[in-house]
Amino acid sequence: MNLISINDLKSWQVDELTASTVLRSKDVKWNGSNASAILLFAEPSTRTRVSFALAARECGIFPLDLDKDNSSIAKGESLSDTFATLAMYDPTFLIVRHKNGMACQIAERFMPDGTTIINAGSGTTNHPTQALGDARLIRSISSDPTIAIVGDVAHSRVAKSLIQVSRQMGWNIFTAGPPELQFTHGEDDIECSNDIRDIKHAKFVYVIRPQLERMEKDIFNREEYIYNWRIEPKHLTVNQCLMHAGPVNIGLEVSPAALNECNTLIQKQVMFCHGIRKDLFGWLRYA
Ligand code: CP
Repeated sequence: MNLISINDLKSWQVDELTASTVLRSKDVKWNGSNASAILLFAEPSTRTRVSFALAARECGIFPLDLDKDNSSIAKGESLSDTFATLAMYDPTFLIVRHKNGMACQIAERFMPDGTTIINAGSGTTNHPTQALGDARLIRSISSDPTIAIVGDVAHSRVAKSLIQVSRQMGWNIFTAGPPELQFTHGEDDIECSNDIRDIKHAKFVYVIRPQLERMEKDIFNREEYIYNWRIEPKHLTVNQCLMHAGPVNIGLEVSPAALNECNTLIQKQVMFCHGIRKDLFGWLRYA
């Protein structure tokens, strides 16, 4: 099966994937199988790209790394033509990061049935593997978590996918941030606060960076944001966990002091997201 959105999964599948081990994956023997993974990363990435490439190697799958500048996209080739071309190589996996929120749905129209498509982050819509890794980490700490997502949720694929996981798991989740960076449609069941003090009600405080590259001009005032929304040590108790998918803009959405003094899970998130990506290769082929 493909993994384009968390909503592609049933609740029991989210439950299985976010448990500490994925039993079906360890039985898959990729070595010697000629399995291949094409990584098409047409947007910048450090964590997702490195972890998928390493995870593929660790599983015995051959990874081929393509980006915007070293592929014919740089010469003007369209996304459709790119996928139509990649389809001819019949890869086992196609892993896509793209600014187009529907990039993976376009890929589905062209790739052969035998290719498993994995969304590695699409526009403002979905980042399912980040959410699954984060959820596995959250679950390793609490069986009944409350999560506050703080900051620019409007432009965040991470926030949307984490909300979808939380719905499936029955977790409490709410957002907090300036009104102009909150959801404007589609998430009516999610409570939204415009007061940073409300994050004290959550065990997990998940900070989302202001995604300036996706904002319309002039909706963001840096000084106001820092004054009202930057996470400082005073906002969190020792029992709360600070999360962030990265990259962190140190000093903008989180102060250096908060990063030093609060209970942050940021490095563990990198580790857990790597783990889930490794597990997904086997899990998706045999789901
Ligand atoms: N969290 C995340 O997707 O990070 P990268 O953009 O570095 O892959």
